[in-house]
Amino acid sequence: MSHREAKIIDPVPGAYNLGDYDHTRRTFRWDNAADGLKFKSTGKLNIAYETIDRHVEDGYGDKTALHYANGEEKRSYTFQEIKEKSDHYARILKENGIRKGDRVFVFLPKTPECYIAILSIIKVGAIAGPLFEAFMEDAVRDRINDCNGTLLITDRDMVERVPREDIPSLKTILFAEDIEASPVENDAGDLVEWMDPEDGMLIHYTSGSTGKPKGVLHAHRVITHQYQSGRWVLDIKEDDIYWCTSHPGWVTGSVYGLFAPWLNRATIVVQGGRFKAENWYQLIAELKVTIWYSAPTAFRMLLSQGEVIRNYDLSSLRHILSVGEPLNPEVIYWAWEQLGVRIHDTWWMTETGAHLIVNLPGEKIKPGSMGRPFPGVEVGILDEDGNEVSRGAVGQLAIRTPWPGLMKEIWGNKDKFDSYFKYEGWYISGDLAYQDAEDYVFFQSRDDDMINSAGERIGPFEVESKLIEHEAIQEAGVIGKPDTIRGEIVKAFIVLREGFEQSEALLEEIRVFVKSNLAAHVAPREIEVMEELPKTTISGKILRRELKQREIEKEGTSLLSR
Ligand code: PRX
Repeated sequence: MSHREAKIIDPVPGAYNLGDYDHTRRTFRWDNAADGLKFKSTGKLNIAYETIDRHVEDGYGDKTALHYANGEEKRSYTFQEIKEKSDHYARILKENGIRKGDRVFVFLPKTPECYIAILSIIKVGAIAGPLFEAFMEDAVRDRINDCNGTLLITDRDMVERVPREDIPSLKTILFAEDIEASPVENDAGDLVEWMDPEDGMLIHYTSGSTGKPKGVLHAHRVITHQYQSGRWVLDIKEDDIYWCTSHPGWVTGSVYGLFAPWLNRATIVVQGGRFKAENWYQLIAELKVTIWYSAPTAFRMLLSQGEVIRNYDLSSLRHILSVGEPLNPEVIYWAWEQLGVRIHDTWWMTETGAHLIVNLPGEKIKPGSMGRPFPGVEVGILDEDGNEVSRGAVGQLAIRTPWPGLMKEIWGNKDKFDSYFKYEGWYISGDLAYQDAEDYVFFQSRDDDMINSAGERIGPFEVESKLIEHEAIQEAGVIGKPDTIRGEIVKAFIVLREGFEQSEALLEEIRVFVKSNLAAHVAPREIEVMEELPKTTISGKILRRELKQREIEKEGTSLLSR
């Protein structure tokens, strides 16, 4: 079924936090948003304070803030406990000399300590840099070096993957387990640093089609956007049990795994361990999860498990959301049939700080569409001169600047930052899309060579650079090959150096080489040896698009219908 013919699904009647989209969109002003937050009346701003401490001050200290589950291990914390723990971490950071604006990294698995560490860094005015737990040495090194991180919170296992001698700025490494156990020498004085809305709070590294990953810096002003989207799009109410499956090393895991739900005082679920359909369903049933935010690859994996879903009581689920990659209509129909709940697709990027295009619980869904603009957000579909195209035509997906969530800068790279704003008044996403007469936006593809595998952004350049460090490889071109479960998989085309013969063992060695230096998810799942790679005649640049086109033709698949 093509996107245009998809079957519309009407909302389930209910009292949603955003009742009237059209009216709200007409009247909404960012200045009036987030009125429930303290800084609106006190003028004192710190997103970590608003996320946790505020609820304790308002009398919700005893409410459960977090349920943690990892196999047999189960723990729960109240808002009071999260506040006390993050205060404790914050004092230890201060004792270690951390001050406003310092970059402090967190390299921990998906545990409560990971969330607490991030909050504590922001509480003392520093910038938190959460790292994905599966990163290997090169990925860790490149990120901390790029913004001269001075302190790292990790644990005794993961520190094995921190090449300390190659990170000169890194003065201190603290283990979460030691922080927990260490007494605070001086607990006098104010802990929370009050920040300017333009001060940095979070840095996420993300890939593009060229160069190494870039540090996208969010400022404290992002709070308005994160709070308001948590209220309207996640639709959080007092009794909700909310589970976002992403690790805080990715922007979905920090913004919608930590900040937006806690700004709205939800009880969040943190699950450790690897993906397994049975465990996920079991967790939803056991904790009576009501709101669930995940990604198309995960939903497709669950769908492919078929009947397993019938063994669990998932009736607590009232709202499901998706992000990060195209959500196929089939997946929406599956959830609708199995659970009687729609999956609400959302679109945004690391750079945008929060949701921009959304499906709201009270509005109809057109499967295949990412939804409509969030109130206060103006979408433009632009041609190559930066002019808006006619309705229904495909063009560059752009957003009218500014909005509160928009990144403050790309760390140390003004040219890269400026490249997002090449048309006056617009942010260019790098995605291609069209918008229908009712303002619904339909994703088409990326406008560059960036790969999206299982919702994760992968820069081909980063993988190619690593590949050619291998002694057998002379040249490499890396693309995203369409895949029914993961959306795309990383495929590498390589030319071997003289004296090297193609063999299964060699290709496996190459795969492991990338995996053990960078991260498992960027390692090519397929490697094809070629005599030569297609190149532009003038500059001799590898033509990734040609490699991709060949692959698509070979598979008989089309990018648009994947
Ligand atoms: O190509 C779009 C895709 O993911 C990119 C942003 O990736 P990242 O910064 O890692 O953020 C992911 C989650 C916030 C976009 O440029 N993308 C994101 N959401 C969708 C999507 N593609 C299709 N449909 C979506 N809903």
